[in-house]
Amino acid sequence: MSCEKKIYLGSDHGGFELKEIIRNYLEDNDYNVEDLGCYSNESVDYPEFGRKVAYAVVNNNAKGIIICGTGIGISMAANKVKGARAGLCHCVDYAKLTRQHNDANILAMGGRFVEPELAKKITDAFLNTEFEGGRHQRRVDDIDNV
Ligand code: RB5
Repeated sequence: MSCEKKIYLGSDHGGFELKEIIRNYLEDNDYNVEDLGCYSNESVDYPEFGRKVAYAVVNNNAKGIIICGTGIGISMAANKVKGARAGLCHCVDYAKLTRQHNDANILAMGGRFVEPELAKKITDAFLNTEFEGGRHQRRVDDIDNV
């Protein structure tokens, strides 16, 4: 698999180890990856990294992957950025559905809850599933109507 578009990655310390695994996995599969941090296990605050990835994704019409301990806090932060649609996924079906129905442009995962091999499968599903459009387009458009 490969992708011309860049994939932006971000995590806090709770997601750092899984982010490293996913970055290596994507690079091994010829994705163009930009890692926006964090860069160690040292404690940091997840909103900064959720926002960084969200702005990069929106400004470059790209995709992103964000990881904190649960995936909850970092997805909350990302979803405050207009145009960002982060879907928190614990299984492959969620990853497919958040692409098909929500046109998610950011995948969020919990680094303390999702095993690496499953996280790779979730990542594959997210990056290789298309938005279905149709009735879902209206709902996705409405997300920004706040
Ligand atoms: C950090 O300890 C933890 O709170 C964070 O990684 C995340 O789980 C927040 O939602």
